[in-house]
Amino acid sequence: MLRPLLLRTAAASAAALAASHAAASPRRSGTDAPPPPLFDLTGRVALVTGASRGLGHAIAVGLAEHGAHVVMCARCPHALEAARAALLEAVPRARVSVSAFDVRDEAACVGAVAKVESECGRLDILVNNAGVNERAPLAEFSTASFRGVIDANVVGPFVLSRECAKAMQRNGWGRIINVGSIMGTLGRENLHAYVASKHAVTGLTKSMAAELGANGVTVNCIAPGYFKTDLTQPLQLNSTFANEVCSQTPARRWGAARELAGPAVFLASESASYVNGATLVVDGGMSSTFHFSE
Ligand SMILES: NC(=O)c1ccc[n+]([C@@H]2O[C@H](COP(=O)([O-])OP(=O)(O)OC[C@H]3O[C@@H](n4cnc5c(N)ncnc54)[C@H](OP(=O)(O)O)[C@@H]3O)[C@@H](O)[C@H]2O)c1
Repeated sequence: MLRPLLLRTAAASAAALAASHAAASPRRSGTDAPPPPLFDLTGRVALVTGASRGLGHAIAVGLAEHGAHVVMCARCPHALEAARAALLEAVPRARVSVSAFDVRDEAACVGAVAKVESECGRLDILVNNAGVNERAPLAEFSTASFRGVIDANVVGPFVLSRECAKAMQRNGWGRIINVGSIMGTLGRENLHAYVASKHAVTGLTKSMAAELGANGVTVNCIAPGYFKTDLTQPLQLNSTFANEVCSQTPARRWGAARELAGPAVFLASESASYVNGATLVVDGGMSSTFHFSE
C-alpha cells in the first residue's frame, strides 16, 4: 500500500513544482507552455560600463552571446570602436552599440541612459563595471586621488543605477549588477580609496536591492579576486606578488576575464530572479581560505 501513496505524493510534488515554476516565471502563460530558457537574454538591452577592455569586455561578450543588445561604455571612443569590432568578431550576430562617456560626469551619465532608452526603446540590465585604483601609503595618499577613485567607483555607479532604475521600474523588470571586489570585505595596505570604494559598492548593492526588489528590479554584486587585466598589470609584473596570488588561491592561478561572463549572465538572467542583494565572489577560493606553507 506504500507504493500508490508514494506515487500520489510524487505526482502531487511534480504538480506543485510545475505550478510554482509557472507562478515564478513572468513569461509563462499556461502550464503547457515550455519553461523559459534559463539564461536567454534575447530582447534585453544591457548597458555595460568599462566595456572597452578587461572584465567589462568579457562581460559584454557573455551578455551578447546570450542574446542581449549590449551598449558598451568607456571614456575612449577609439578603444570602444576596437572593442565593438572584437565583440562582433566573437559574436557575429550580436547587436552592439557604443557610448563614450565618463562615469564621473553626472550630466553625461544621465544623458547616456536617456539615449539608450530613446535609441533602443528600453533598458533592462546595467553592469556597473568601470573602476579605477590608486596605490599609495596613507601619509602620501592625496585627497584628490581619494575623491577621484570614489567618484569613479561609487558615485558613477550610484548615478547610473538611479537613472536606470527609473526605466526598469517603469517596465517592472530590471537587473543591476555592480562589479565590486574581494576588497569590498577585506582590507589591504596602500589601497585606501579602492578598499573604501568597494566596501561602499557592497553596501550600495544592498540598499538598492532593499528598495527596488518590490518592483521587479534586482541588484547584485560580483566580487572578483585577482584577474589578469590592465588594472592589475603592476601586480602581474611583480613576480613575488604574482606568485603569491597563485599560492594563496586554491585554484593556484589568476582568474581569466572570461570567467566573469558566466556569473554576469546568471545574475542578468531569469535564473537569478530570486537572487537580490547578494555578492557573488569569483576569486578561485582565495578569500575563503587561509593558506600557510606549514
Ligand atoms: N582585474 C581585477 O583583478 C579586478 C579585481 C577585482 C575587481 N575588479 C573590478 O573590475 C572592474 C573592471 O576592472 P578591470 O580589471 O577590467 O579594469 P581595466 O582593465 O583597467 O578596465 C577598466 C575599464 O573601465 C573604463 N573606465 C575607467 N574609468 C572610467 C570612467 N571614469 N568612466 C568610464 N569608463 C571608465 C576603461 O576605459 P577608459 O579608460 O577608456 O575609460 C576600461 O574600459 C573594476 O571595477 C575593478 O575594480 C577588477
